[in-house]
Amino acid sequence: MNETMKTLIERRSCRSYKAEQIKKEELDAVLTAGIWAPTGMNRQHTKLVAVCDPETVSLLSKMNAAVMGSEGDPFYGAPCVVIVFGDSSVYTYVEDGSLAMGNMMNAAHAVGLGSCWIHRAKEMFESEEGKALMAKWGIPESYKGVGNCILGYIDTPPADRPRLDGRIIISD
Ligand SMILES: Cc1cc2nc3c(=O)[nH]c(=O)nc-3n(C[C@H](O)[C@H](O)[C@H](O)COP(=O)(O)O)c2cc1C
Repeated sequence: MNETMKTLIERRSCRSYKAEQIKKEELDAVLTAGIWAPTGMNRQHTKLVAVCDPETVSLLSKMNAAVMGSEGDPFYGAPCVVIVFGDSSVYTYVEDGSLAMGNMMNAAHAVGLGSCWIHRAKEMFESEEGKALMAKWGIPESYKGVGNCILGYIDTPPADRPRLDGRIIISD
């Protein structure tokens, strides 16, 4: 099978990671795939913030858990996370950010990493703590969090997730 098709079909959301940090070239590949995602009217407004230092990853995980009122680790021990932000004044910002997320998850699989979309980025960065981080990273206030793409080496491989039948309709 064509390698791209194989990547698209075989990528799975990973929920169990080794503590070992990913390599710079692997992260670079994921980020490159993210910025090459298309954007409505080619506005290229999406911003990707890569966080691989353990303290900030742990803070982000806690912020994410707080949105759910939980105390678990919603990042499943992943040592790195890329947050996708989109400019909310661009009316395709959610779609644009989502495409960046998709590209990054597929690129992660292509370079041998596990990944998973972790939701609630919008709420995380609407908090005072989140706004302070955005200011530190130079992300303008009009931006909203779209998704968190956690990354790492797979510990327990994800189970198969067969696709439901009847979802493709070919009109004649
Ligand atoms: C918009 C979106 C939000 C998601 N949020 C979470 C999440 O917060 N936590 C999580 O464990 N998985 C999350 N996922 C992963 C989905 O559960 C996963 O994609 C789905 O079960 C299908 O599995 P697959 O990615 O292996 O095909 C999210 C996926 C999407 C597209």
